[in-house]
Amino acid sequence: MNNSLLYGDNLPIMREKIATESVDLVYLDPPFKSDLNYNVLFKADGLTSDEAQLTAFKDTWTWDSAAQTTYDELQNTSNVTLVNLVNALQVGLERTPMLAYLVNMAIRLIEIHRVMKPTGSVYLHCDPTASHYLKILMDAVFLPTNFQSEIIWRRTGSHNKMKRWAPIHDVLLFYTKSDEYTWNNPRRPYMLGHVKEHFVEGENGSYKTDYYGNVLTGSGTRGGESGQPWRGFDPTAKGRHWAIPGKIWEEAGIEPTGLTQHQKLDLLFEKGFITITEGEAWPMYQLTITPSDGPAAPDIWAYQPYTEGTVFGTTEGVDADVRWLSPQDAERLGYPTQKPLGILKHIINTSSRPGDLVLDPFCGCGTTIAAAQMLARRWIGIDISPFAIELIRRQRLEGAFPHLKVGVDYEIDGLPTTLEGARMMAESDRKGFEIWAVSKIDGIPNDKKGADKGVDGRIPFRPDGKVAKFAVVSVKSGKLKADDVRSLMAVAKREESSSLGFGVLVVLNPPTPGMKADAASAGTVEMHGNRYPLNQILTIEEILKGKKPHLPLIDPTVGYRKKANLADMQGSLL
Ligand SMILES: C[S@@+](CC[C@H](N)C(=O)[O-])C[C@H]1O[C@@H](n2cnc3c(N)ncnc32)[C@H](O)[C@@H]1O
Repeated sequence: MNNSLLYGDNLPIMREKIATESVDLVYLDPPFKSDLNYNVLFKADGLTSDEAQLTAFKDTWTWDSAAQTTYDELQNTSNVTLVNLVNALQVGLERTPMLAYLVNMAIRLIEIHRVMKPTGSVYLHCDPTASHYLKILMDAVFLPTNFQSEIIWRRTGSHNKMKRWAPIHDVLLFYTKSDEYTWNNPRRPYMLGHVKEHFVEGENGSYKTDYYGNVLTGSGTRGGESGQPWRGFDPTAKGRHWAIPGKIWEEAGIEPTGLTQHQKLDLLFEKGFITITEGEAWPMYQLTITPSDGPAAPDIWAYQPYTEGTVFGTTEGVDADVRWLSPQDAERLGYPTQKPLGILKHIINTSSRPGDLVLDPFCGCGTTIAAAQMLARRWIGIDISPFAIELIRRQRLEGAFPHLKVGVDYEIDGLPTTLEGARMMAESDRKGFEIWAVSKIDGIPNDKKGADKGVDGRIPFRPDGKVAKFAVVSVKSGKLKADDVRSLMAVAKREESSSLGFGVLVVLNPPTPGMKADAASAGTVEMHGNRYPLNQILTIEEILKGKKPHLPLIDPTVGYRKKANLADMQGSLL
């Protein structure tokens, strides 16, 4: 499958469009069962807070007929453990919102398991609200033996919560489909204090162990060769035994399987990792490190502010590469629950190879897509919000990778490309259709209609090249009414200080001659030597052909944050 951005519910999409055993890595960041609805907040001077926000997605659950249908469907899966588990949860939790959430997740986990290659990995991002239930579902789908890690990610600075520990972490459950999977040995840099205490400066920025006489031994005596003397050194006599740190083998690039303890020591001695000096109490082992070395990356990812300068080889603080996004972070696109590129890069770098296929079935504003593209992986992103898909198209793809061409380098699927498709979307998801139509003509969609019932969005333009003004947009997907144009003109008039009187009516069905006459009667204004009609009617058919409203200097970037920072781009497949 090509790089693909797919609009819609991920369950039917995965079932119908993603082949069995085709995906190398899945990252999913579904709703967490937070009982909240999330809004996109646009940054647009001149619009009120209501005008500049849009519901992005809902994370509220009820036990309704849809939940019951999913529950019934789960009874027919071939995974008996999962069926038994869901039934047990039903007994324990009863038909509550939590059970509704869990059955929704369970049925999707089955599909995720199906599409993963036998060597695939999956990271489920959640939080303590439901992580304990999700882990048992993951155990049932992926098997407990394929559970690899529970990662604790520090997602924020601090919270003031009365009478409980400030909740500042998310949970990532890492499972694989089998015990053979891609693992690129991630490292964390040493702390500078550790390096200064245990190492001395070597050549070219490297450091080496100063003296680690007994590092080849462990405390306590042992039988067998581990306790026997080697080259004149007797560990048992000093209450110790031979024990060689795994790090030495990695550094030496040797796999010591099949060797006895003494043979391993011999091999290291021959390779120069062990020196024997007369008069020393122990054979000496020397480890050389550079800033790219470090201990194995742990399962706690916690950026620590104000630790800059304490990490070996960098001026950044502890875990700076997985730091959370601050409210004003340059990376932010304004999409709620957006995750930092850093954690996605960490996961993708560790659990996949260039060219591998990465799937994010709840892709939001496309953090996974951006990270995968930067790291030369192939990608599939799915989201049920048409706004999220449009945001990714505009900011993550066209904005950040202008050399990539839709239809050539990637596909966008599920949003209408034909009039018939638009009609179907308007029938099945009217609100989604309106959001899509407004985004398509570079507008800021809005669903908090307030007093102006018919306003579905506003198009930013800069008639003087500086201050943004906003033409009001109304989308009509149903039968047109005789006064549709006049109502819109009344709103544009009322908002004249911000709209300059401009209104754009978007219609799915052809406008009547009366409507056209009404629009024409609104007149035109002259700006910079051009005439602009104050009221414009655009049909969806015209919009699909690329037509935009005729306004002076439309600025599609107003309201949207900057595009993702590409300074650290590491290459691209395309
Ligand atoms: C927590 S957000 C993901 C944020 C994302 N990781 C990012 O960095 O932007 C969850 C997303 O899942 C989407 N979503 C919820 N239910 C879905 C479904 N059934 N199919 C596809 N997407 C869904 C929502 O629209 C929302 O964008």
